[in-house]
Amino acid sequence: MANVAVLGTQWGDEGKGKIVDLLTPSFDIIARYQGGHNAGHTVTIRGRKIVLHLIPSGILHRGKLCVIGNGVVLSPPAFLEELDVLREFGINPANILISHNAHLIMPYHSLLEKCREECLAERKIGTTCRGIGPAYEDKAARRGLRAGDLLDQGWLEDKIRENVLEKNMELVRFGQPSLDPRAVFEEYAGYAQRLKPHIVDVSTLLQQRLRRGQSILFEGAQGTMLDLDHGTYPFVTSSSSAAGGVCTGLGIPPGQVHAVLGVTKAYTTRVGSGPFPTEIPDERGEILSKRGNEFGATTGRRRRCGWFDAVAVAYACRLNGITRLAVTKPDVLDVFDKIPVCTGYRYKGTPLRSFPVDSRVLEKVEPRYRELPGWKTSLAEAAESGRWPQRFKDYLRTLEDMVEARACLVSTGVERSQTILLPRLLRGIADPDQVRAQLRGRLAGR
Ligand code: IMP
Ligand code: MG
Repeated sequence: MANVAVLGTQWGDEGKGKIVDLLTPSFDIIARYQGGHNAGHTVTIRGRKIVLHLIPSGILHRGKLCVIGNGVVLSPPAFLEELDVLREFGINPANILISHNAHLIMPYHSLLEKCREECLAERKIGTTCRGIGPAYEDKAARRGLRAGDLLDQGWLEDKIRENVLEKNMELVRFGQPSLDPRAVFEEYAGYAQRLKPHIVDVSTLLQQRLRRGQSILFEGAQGTMLDLDHGTYPFVTSSSSAAGGVCTGLGIPPGQVHAVLGVTKAYTTRVGSGPFPTEIPDERGEILSKRGNEFGATTGRRRRCGWFDAVAVAYACRLNGITRLAVTKPDVLDVFDKIPVCTGYRYKGTPLRSFPVDSRVLEKVEPRYRELPGWKTSLAEAAESGRWPQRFKDYLRTLEDMVEARACLVSTGVERSQTILLPRLLRGIADPDQVRAQLRGRLAGR
């Protein structure tokens, strides 16, 4: 069975949670490779909504192993809170493992991030202020604390003291009260007790499982355009959300990533600051935001809304080697007479041949649009009858042609049942029969 990465091709919030949930029955293991509790993956099962921030959505299925890789930054209290929510749903936490090498988010990380964002004022990144960036900074600076450090109290206390004393200097500079190293140590020593049974050598474990013939779904968080290296820097997250992050974030050889499924919203959204060429300035943006319920699952912020940007998604497909797409939320577009799609950019009057590497250029590009006729009918109903409006088929085909990838799944609503499969194209990604059974609820979660 193939190992597949499922990741976002835009600025996050493409609807990855639902897609991962649908595909999970075809895999043995679901693994997160980057990000932290800045993510918000919403899954709705028979009207019950669950938002997961850190633990892979695969946990909603019996018997699946869920893994948090070394590329993730882990907030112990956020993790434990999520475990408690899952317990309320009757889910056994024994199947959730954390890499020994995953870096820990510490209390000073979010405190410092808030101070820095405030100082940036107009130029702020608009982060989730969860301490994600500062935790990755400490990782790169080689002073971070890792999950494995929780297992040795003496070592933990020393490392916490060193870090807190250093961070206090910065906190004081921002006019903040300093932290007590002993109190931070005691807090984290308390978490250590509960986290201990979950901490393992994830890379070795995954390689053993692969040798036994098990398969892995690599679950991406955020989206390609928020990738630290390849996204719209500096308005990005601090991890490798694109496919390259799978190998470094889990300790998996490149040859073990057999396919990459790109999750793409039929329009575009972005939370936080940064360039967004197809952002809609008029009331049509409001319509998308309301119909699509475009409010952040993590921060509750209203997402900025825009038309589908084929330049950005084509770039993401090339970067990740995506040939198959899961297209989400086209039903949000049901009401429009005409639907613009961005087919190219011009910069200072000249067409650009490729996606600009510089955010300052992207900020100033003029998007070129092609207007496609709207289908003006309910796609959710069409999905049930299996009869697609021709105009929707044309819209989808235009998107596919522009980004050079084919849709193997189309999602027209939050429920599992509101999904259309293209089984022939799904092969190599997941077992079409298993996904179909899942849609009908025969393999329903719990
Ligand atoms: P950070 O990840 O909290 O550092 O935030 C950096 C940027 O990524 C900000 O623009 C956030 O709004 C954005 N971001 C982080 N996580 C998500 C997500 O899960 N969905 C969408 N945007 C996100
Ligand atoms: Mg989200």
